[in-house]
Amino acid sequence: MKIAPSILSADFSRLKDEIQAVEAAGADWLHVDVMDGHFVPNITIGPVVVEWIRKATRLPLDAHLMITDPDKYASEFIKAGADWVSIHPDTCRDPSRSLSRIRELGAKASIAVNPDVPLERIEGHLAEIDMILMMTVFPGFAGQAFIDDVLPNITKVRTLISERKLPVLVEADGGIKADNIDRVVRAGAEVIVSGSGIFKTQNYTETIRRMRNAAQGLER
Ligand code: DX5
Ligand code: ZN
Repeated sequence: MKIAPSILSADFSRLKDEIQAVEAAGADWLHVDVMDGHFVPNITIGPVVVEWIRKATRLPLDAHLMITDPDKYASEFIKAGADWVSIHPDTCRDPSRSLSRIRELGAKASIAVNPDVPLERIEGHLAEIDMILMMTVFPGFAGQAFIDDVLPNITKVRTLISERKLPVLVEADGGIKADNIDRVVRAGAEVIVSGSGIFKTQNYTETIRRMRNAAQGLER
């Protein structure tokens, strides 16, 4: 299991310290939530900031693009240092094309699935991706409540991937904390995004340790 703290909940006045603190605390990746005020009502981080984040850490950068025109901007985020790029398929004219373009540019391609999207709609893309991002909240804001109804879909997607023997990771994103991570991991997710669940706690090392233990069923 990989833990990817979402920096959206970090103290941005001390962003480098915050990043280095979660890295020292045992984070595996860094999740970067990119919002443009169009696809979602919130505005967050652009390529310039990602470029600085890249200089502050060696952790893989997981860019989650919640923007209207990822075809226009994905290359800028990759150039800035994103290793993984997730797109929402309804923002692309031709999602297959967008995903293969991300791979051509040297990043890993991922498709994000909102809580109300039927899996049939993305099943056809499984062979074109390195990861599937299962949203456990509706995109737009940190600190929202986890949507339990997504858990069966995480299991379904995990099963499809195993049946087809595809090298695709399953990531879960939104409302995940030390007290519910066990259910998300048991459902089949292996990359766990957590924003407020980590950055709004006092001791990141202790929180990440608790999350790993909980995921193994050792504590909650
Ligand atoms: C929601 C974002 C998530 C979110 C995670 O639009 O994609 O990554 O910020 O934050 P928490 O863990 O606080 O829900
Ligand atoms: Zn995200």
